[in-house]
Amino acid sequence: MVQLDKSDAGIKCAVAGTALHTPRCGEIEFLQDALIVIDQPGFIQSILTPTDSHYEQLKNDLKDDDKLLELSNNEYLLPGLIDLHIHAPQWPQMGKALHLPLYDWLHTCTFPLEAKYADVTFAEVVYRSLVDTLLSNGTTTAVYFGTIHLDATKLLADICVELGQRALVGRVSMDNEDQCPDYYRDLSAAKSIEDTREFIEYLRGQSSGAGIVLPAITPRFIPSCSDEALAGHGELAEEYDCHIQTHCSEDNWSHDYGVSRFGKTDTESLLEFGLLTDKTVLAHCNFINPRDMMTIRSAQTAIAHCPLSNFLFSNAVLPVRQLLDKGVKVGLGTDVSGGAHVSIYDSCCQAIVASRALQEGVNANLPPEDRGLADASINFKEAFWMATAGGGEALGFKVGRFSEGYCFDAMVIDAAATDSNLVIWRDMDSLEDVLQKIVYNARRPNVRTVWVQGDIVAGGIPRSNRQVPST
Ligand code: GUN
Ligand code: FE
Repeated sequence: MVQLDKSDAGIKCAVAGTALHTPRCGEIEFLQDALIVIDQPGFIQSILTPTDSHYEQLKNDLKDDDKLLELSNNEYLLPGLIDLHIHAPQWPQMGKALHLPLYDWLHTCTFPLEAKYADVTFAEVVYRSLVDTLLSNGTTTAVYFGTIHLDATKLLADICVELGQRALVGRVSMDNEDQCPDYYRDLSAAKSIEDTREFIEYLRGQSSGAGIVLPAITPRFIPSCSDEALAGHGELAEEYDCHIQTHCSEDNWSHDYGVSRFGKTDTESLLEFGLLTDKTVLAHCNFINPRDMMTIRSAQTAIAHCPLSNFLFSNAVLPVRQLLDKGVKVGLGTDVSGGAHVSIYDSCCQAIVASRALQEGVNANLPPEDRGLADASINFKEAFWMATAGGGEALGFKVGRFSEGYCFDAMVIDAAATDSNLVIWRDMDSLEDVLQKIVYNARRPNVRTVWVQGDIVAGGIPRSNRQVPST
């Protein structure tokens, strides 16, 4: 065995094969025949290429030690996907009730469903199903809204720990009597703050989940919270140096509500309440103005772009190109169940389509030059970056790319999987084509193995014998 400066006794496992990632927005890096070595705590220890002097020897030693996974020609290693905005309790409602405007959808469908999570037995069934499904789709990090219920939301966090998904989990705070129904509301601002504190203490005290599952302070959105609750949650965020998540300027109704209540935009109000920090994730932000954009940038707050739900509820497209160009942190969210697709690859496609619709315009009765907003489009490389490295930067986590010291959160995409809609034509497709095809067509059947922090958390399905076609 060769002597390396880093002893391979500290190696947990390694993957050899072709890896694709976007370490910088819009730039793909192809790591062909790479050897990615993961240390015992699950971080990337080194990335070797065939030109490295000890590549062959180390590969052989790892194989002898049964620590090496060698990818076939049909398999590609990619970073795990990051869902910056998902409502776990809305999973049973996914794909339903999407004809309603946001306010009606909340009051007639969503609040009655979320109220059911007072029953932890119901919560357990739903949350297990969701976390398992997300992992099987390659979502290695999820930023969850729970419900107002402490026990069910603790259970959601416990299930993430048990199944090995990296997550932020939030107990939803909503105490405003004018906007929340009697059957689904925190009893008072004080109780709302107390329950959030208990939730943070619970997760911070869990040694098994430490680092993988963290709490997020979660005032649902401005309409659902009293001034006292908003201020109190801002104070908690400072006291605990905790992540925060909320909805911001999502649709005309909620944005106008905030302006009429406070005489300022959601962004300005959240800043005043101490809820706009470098650990905040704001969902949507469709109706922010240019000043809000600069405020969000200087606070180093992140935006969760949820393109499908924006089409359905907001009748608007987030100007994501502009945000990226201005250096605002942006990642992608499914917004299940305001969004009706669970795969972040779908969110990538929707983000691309939405940006193209914004740029080109959609009303064919207008002349082309009057139809759209210039320079608004993004490409698949930028979308994939938001789904991976950009999402990681949004959370301040070392995930989403293959670099030394980063967490090994990754997936193998198998282009030869049974039931694959992804077809790679080896003689015609460059590696850049392969990544584009993966974004558009790789889905659950192609996700073969998924790791979080170096541990396999989904997949490991036997390879099929299907051959990739060649011309
Ligand atoms: N605004 C407040 N609550 C919600 C929710 O559950 N989904 C969406 N899309 N917007 C919201
Ligand atoms: Fe949402």
